Amino acid sequence: MGLGVAECFAAAGIEVRITDATPELSREAKERLVRRARGHAEAGLLSEEAADRAEGVETADDTSAVARDAELIFEAVSEKLDLKHRILAACSGAAPPEAVIVSNTSSLPIDELADAVERPERFLGMHWFNPPEWTPGVEVIPAATTGPEVVERVIRFLQNIGKRPAAVGSRPGFVANRIQMALFLEALRCVEEGLATAQEVDEVVRSCFGFRLPFFGPFQIADMAGLDVYASVLETLKNGLGERFETPKVLGELVEQGRTGTKSGAGFLEYSDEEREWLLLERDRRYSALNELLEGLPPVEAGRNRREL
Ligand SMILES: NC(=O)c1ccc[n+]([C@@H]2O[C@H](COP(=O)([O-])OP(=O)(O)OC[C@H]3O[C@@H](n4cnc5c(N)ncnc54)[C@H](O)[C@@H]3O)[C@@H](O)[C@H]2O)c1
Repeated sequence: MGLGVAECFAAAGIEVRITDATPELSREAKERLVRRARGHAEAGLLSEEAADRAEGVETADDTSAVARDAELIFEAVSEKLDLKHRILAACSGAAPPEAVIVSNTSSLPIDELADAVERPERFLGMHWFNPPEWTPGVEVIPAATTGPEVVERVIRFLQNIGKRPAAVGSRPGFVANRIQMALFLEALRCVEEGLATAQEVDEVVRSCFGFRLPFFGPFQIADMAGLDVYASVLETLKNGLGERFETPKVLGELVEQGRTGTKSGAGFLEYSDEEREWLLLERDRRYSALNELLEGLPPVEAGRNRREL
C-alpha cells in the first residue's frame, strides 16, 4: 500500500521521501516504485511525465530521517499495534511540530494509535483502498484528539490530488470494511448453503445490484427501489433467515410516515418533482453508458469453481 500511495503522491507532483525497515529495503522499495510507475506508463495508465516523477522520490535510512522537515507523514507499516506505536512515536518525535501525521490502518482503533503520537491533534486515520493509484475513495478517520482544522486540511489535500475522501467514525472496520465484510459474509453463506457457486455469486453481485454501485450508494438505491418494498423484503428475509434481517426502526418509521422514497418525493433523502425526473433519467443514462463500456471489455475470467467450501 505504501508504494502505491507514494506513486500516487509523486504522480500528483508532490515531493516524496520513503523508508522501510532497513536502508536496503528502502532502496529496494524505491526500485520497485520506479518499476511500478514505468509499468503503468507502458500500459498507458500513467503519463511518461508522471512516471518520471517516481524517479525523483528520495529514500531515507530510517523513520526519523524520513520525517525530518516533512509536511505530511503517511504511515503504512504492517498492521500490528505495537509496531505502529513505535513508528508513530519516532515519526512524531522527529517531525516538525506542524506536520500532519496519518495512519493507513485498516482496522486498529485510531484513538489507540493517537496515544503514541506527540501532539496528537495533528494525527488521524487515512484509509486508502487497493490499488491506491486507481481507487478514488479514502476514509478519513479523526481520533477524539484530532483538531477539526487538521481534518479539513487533509480532506482538501486529498480532493486536490483527485481523491474522494469521506470523514467517518472510528468503530471496528470504519465504514467501508464493515459493509464490505457484511456483504462477503452473506456471499459466503450463499455458497456454503449450496445456493450458488462462488462464480455465480460473483456474477449476481457484479451484474445485479453491484452494477449500480459506481453511481449510487445504498440509501439512494433504497429510495429509488421504494422503502416499503425494502421493508417487505426484509420481513421475508427475517422470517426465513433470522434476526440479523430484523427491519431497523428507522426504516419502519419512514414507511409509516409515507416517506417511501423517490416515488413519494421523500425517503432517506428528499426530492422535488424536477429532481426526481432528472435523477431517474440520469440513472438510465449512466447505466446505459456503463453497459456500453462493459460490452467493449473482455470478461475477467480467472479461477475455477468450487461449490463445496
Ligand atoms: N493490503 C491492503 O489492501 C490494504 C488496504 C488498506 C490499508 N492497508 C493497511 O496498510 C498497512 C500496510 O499494509 P500492506 O498490505 O501494504 O502491508 P505489507 O506487509 O505489504 O507492507 C508493510 C510494509 O511495512 C514495512 N515495515 C515493517 N516494519 C517496519 C519498520 N519497523 N519500519 C519501517 N517499515 C516497516 C515492511 O517492510 C513492508 O514494506 C497496514 O496497516 C494495512 O492494514 C492495507
